[in-house]
Amino acid sequence: MPSVEWNKQEWATQLRDFDNFHLPYYGSQWGDPDPRAVFPYFIRVWMPEAMAAALLQPRSLRRLLHRAFKPKAPFYPELYALIQRYIRPYVTSNSVVLEIGPGGGRWTRYLLNAKQIILVDIVSDFFEYLQHRFPDHASKFTFYQPKAHDLHAIADHSVDYLLTFDAFVHIEPDGIREYLHEIARVLKPGAVAVIHYGDITKQAANEQGVHFAPMTAAKMIEFLAELPQFKVMLHDQAFLKHSNLVVLTAMGQ
Ligand SMILES: C[S@@+](CC[C@H](N)C(=O)[O-])C[C@H]1O[C@@H](n2cnc3c(N)ncnc32)[C@H](O)[C@@H]1O
Repeated sequence: MPSVEWNKQEWATQLRDFDNFHLPYYGSQWGDPDPRAVFPYFIRVWMPEAMAAALLQPRSLRRLLHRAFKPKAPFYPELYALIQRYIRPYVTSNSVVLEIGPGGGRWTRYLLNAKQIILVDIVSDFFEYLQHRFPDHASKFTFYQPKAHDLHAIADHSVDYLLTFDAFVHIEPDGIREYLHEIARVLKPGAVAVIHYGDITKQAANEQGVHFAPMTAAKMIEFLAELPQFKVMLHDQAFLKHSNLVVLTAMGQ
């Protein structure tokens, strides 16, 4: 079971040992949500994101391009779909957004047009990394390092949109449950929460070993049943080979 201590040590060590020379940024080793990541730099800079997504649609072509260019940051279409369907429509210049476990900002970069961006990570070393990575937006950042699974520094009903991706896969079910209660507290009525979590009933999750939390879709349903203030917009249990996606709306209190 991945403990809080394990998470603190693991990600701090990974960031310290991260070799900036071989990868575009910390986090891209897990796949880049931008379809242009598959192309070499000289093509990527002029190609619009939507064009790259369309070009990569047939899986055969995608495989061919991956083989030809051997991108440092692999591209998974599911990640791009997440941006298009569940981030861009909700994050506006008036939004207060919150991200749990931003790490090196793989997803933070799609939140940058918000009015305020609250970044919550158990490893505070990422805060400096994020400030350096996004200097033009750093004035909108507020950072919070939780004790374990809390959002204590964040006021009740103050957040319009929440995202967490690839963090809950490493957080034990009780921790996820605590975070869900905290998320219910901080969201404004009508706010949207996009939550990615691991599903140990899937073979690919099992293969990840002990650092993948023993979370399941059944447990997520059980936890959400405790929180009637959430309306479940989507519970996609076929999202990725090792994980699921839940999209919630906070109802009026
Ligand atoms: C695998 S990395 C993913 C980072 C980023 N979301 C991404 O997709 O590239 C997991 C992140 O979750 C953070 N994390 C782990 N446990 C956490 C907790 N209890 N509360 C907040 N963040 C946590 C880690 O420090 C790390 O930044």
